[in-house]
Formats: sequence, C-alpha cells, structure tokens
Amino acid sequence: MRIILYLGKGGVGKTTTAAASAIRSADLGYRTLVVSTDIAHSLADSLDVALTGQPLEVAPNLFAQEINVLEELHEHWGQLQGYLGNILRKQGMNKAVAEEMAIIPGMEEVVSLLHINKQAQEGNFDRVIVDAAPTGETIRLLTMPESFQWYVGRLRGWGDTTMRIASGLISRFVPDKDVFGGLDRLVGGVKELQKVLTNPSITSYRIVLNPEKMVLKEGARAVSYLSLFGYPVDAAVVNRVLPGITSDGMGNTVLVEPSSDAYLRHLQEIQVRYLAELERDFYPLPIFRSPWFDREMVGIDNLRELASALFADRDPGQVFFTGQAQTVEEEGEDFVLQLPLPNVELDKVRLSKRGDELFVTIGNFKRELLLPSVLAQRDASGATFTGGILKIRFPPVDNLQSPISNLQSYDEIGD
Ligand SMILES: Nc1ncnc2c1ncn2[C@@H]1O[C@H](COP(=O)(O)OP(=O)(O)OP(=O)(O)O)[C@@H](O)[C@H]1O
Ligand SMILES: [Mg+2]
Repeated sequence: MRIILYLGKGGVGKTTTAAASAIRSADLGYRTLVVSTDIAHSLADSLDVALTGQPLEVAPNLFAQEINVLEELHEHWGQLQGYLGNILRKQGMNKAVAEEMAIIPGMEEVVSLLHINKQAQEGNFDRVIVDAAPTGETIRLLTMPESFQWYVGRLRGWGDTTMRIASGLISRFVPDKDVFGGLDRLVGGVKELQKVLTNPSITSYRIVLNPEKMVLKEGARAVSYLSLFGYPVDAAVVNRVLPGITSDGMGNTVLVEPSSDAYLRHLQEIQVRYLAELERDFYPLPIFRSPWFDREMVGIDNLRELASALFADRDPGQVFFTGQAQTVEEEGEDFVLQLPLPNVELDKVRLSKRGDELFVTIGNFKRELLLPSVLAQRDASGATFTGGILKIRFPPVDNLQSPISNLQSYDEIGD
C-alpha cells in the first residue's frame, strides 16, 4: 500500500496534480483512493463529479472522497470536546470561547489523517492519494503527532487535578467517565499513524510548485521541515510551465521557442530563471513538469491528459527517490545540517546567513536554503564539502550574543 501526499502553496495545482495522479494510478489497474483533507474542498470540482464523506467509485478502480472533518470530529470526539468545554466554562470562560478552546489544536487534522489511515487499511486500497491543504497547514498537520501527544499529556494531568478538586461538580458534566479512554485511544492511533507517515516505502510527500519566487521559497521551506521531521519527500512537481521551455535532462532549462510576443516572452524568461533555480534548490529530488494548458484542467479526461504530460509512461505510485534531501544530525551540542549537492567543483564553501535564509556558494554554484527555526536561531560556524555532501555546523547560541546574525560569511576549505 502506498500513501502519496501532494502539498504546496495555495493555488499551485495540488488538487489537480493529486487527481491526475490518482486517475493514472487507477488506469494502471491499482485500486486508488483520492482524498482531500482541505476543509475548503475542491476535489469534486476538479474531477467534475459530486463527492461525499465516503469513498465513491468515480471511474474503474478510482475512488474519491472529501472528508468532512467537522462531522468526523463531532462523531468521534464530540463527547470529549463537550466535557472539556464544560470544565472551561466552569472556570469562568464565555461559552463560545470555551467551546472553541475545547478543540485541541491540530485535532481536526489528526482526525482526518487517522481517517485516511483507516480507509487505507480497511478499504483495501493499493494507493491513497492525498490532496492536502496549503503547505503551512499541512506542515502543522504533519508535525502534529508530536505536539498533539505533548498537549494531550498536559491535558490529562490538568483534567485529573480538576477532577480531584471538584469531582462532585465535574461528574455532572461527564456523560461517560471514560472520556479520557477515548483520548488514550486517539494518542495510540496517532502513534501508529506516525509510523506509517514516516515509512518511506509506504508514504511519499511531493511538493507542487510553480516557477515563481514565492512559491519556490515556500516549497523549499516545506522540504526543510519535512526532512527535519523525517517525512520522506520523493519528488517535486512544477506545474504551469509555459510552452517553449524544455529541460535538457541534465538539469538545464532551455528556452527553445521564444515567443514573438514580448509580454509572453518576458514571462517565459522569468520561468526559465526560476526553473533553473529550482533544479539546484531541490536537488537531489527528481522534478516532474506539467505544462500550462490553455484551458481549465477539470474533469477526468483533461486530468488524464495532464497526467500523461506530467508522468509520461511512469507510474505515479512509484517511489521516485529514497533517502533524505537533507538531514539535521546532533553532534554533541552542535547541530549539523547535511545536504547532498550536485557535481560542484571542490572549492571554498562560502556561507552567508540572513534570518532563516542561508546562502551557500561553492565556486560559481549558488544555492539558497531556508532553515527550519531550530537552525535559524543559531549561527553557522563553518562548512565542509566532502563526497558530494555539504555539512554545515551550527553550534549553540552564546546567550550573551544576539541569536541571529544579520549577515555573516564563513570560508572553509572542503577536505
Ligand atoms: N497545468 C495547468 N494548466 C491549466 N490550468 C491549471 C493547471 N493546473 C491547475 N490548473 C487550474 O488552476 C486552478 C487551481 O488549481 P488547483 O485547484 O489544483 O490548485 P490547488 O493548489 O489545489 O489550490 P488550493 O490551494 O486552493 O487548494 C484550477 O482551476 C485548475 O483547473
Ligand atoms: Mg486544492
């Protein structure tokens, strides 16, 4: 069984790419479920069929579903939520605020992920393709299992204390004394889920991009965070590539047919620049490209055509890349960021850092990295480039100094 999640900035083409991948997978004979976890669903519009909260067969082997998170939440955790809301109200909180607060942060996301996992196991699907919410929310969702467990731990302690103090009072609101039993089962489920979501032979994450500056930045940040939490990213998808641009297969982007229209030609040139940057910044991930069609790509036939342009004859259910695009190791007190780089000449590694952006220069190779917060808070003390791997060291911050350097450069010869 394979789970594939498409994530990326709002509007880049996540739903379209997820739906197209699912159609291709079903056409290849795999029983495939495409499911959307975004509360603002658009999967039904993309496939051009009405969908419900249950998997619906929309083409041979192809099932689609829009999870109704709020319904799921109410059905499974309504009782617990009511209980927590009541405790908060007893502490003097206004009703609406208390009910809002009773929703454990990330609960909605956790519930939809648990649901996907359950479907995957019970529905006997060969593939589950997830159309996720825009990156920020999805990253929060994926880091949730860790923080969720922490939060529940706190909540449990707090519930016990409150119960001890006011057991008589509380018992009136507890329809079933076993509300915390439900919570424990939820935590157990989340633990299981996390194993599935970090298993590279089951789950792959793909970043959907457009050749535009802000989109690439957000995509790069997503790769850093996913890598940090051990979530396996296996490809990037660049959607909406203008006609006349191709890749020579060696990582070079070429404008083969410059448009005679000055406006369009200018847009082509911008895309060529960002496509070239993307090849470097997302190395070693394989990059798939889909063209910018001159019509809206909705409905199964259009999506099938998009899948052909995107994957040629490849199966989107394959694992396209194994290994981590980058890792953060602990060495004593230091963090060491390791990332493979393409064939660059052995030369001086130059680093400069501004906020969470790290600029790496080796000879005439340049790469911009967006650091996860844990690293952005520190300064890099040096770098080495050996055997195709760049290692950048981040010692702990000296508390007396400002934690973030404005602009610093380091030179170190790779050995
Ligand atoms: N390659 C393409 N060529 C032409 N139209 C496209 C292409 N990719 C996507 N579209 C259209 O762009 C719109 C947005 O795409 P889509 O809904 O897939 O984006 P999304 O990333 O899922 O957005 P959201 O973040 O809002 O969920 C849709 O109307 C879709 O049909
Ligand atoms: Mg979408």
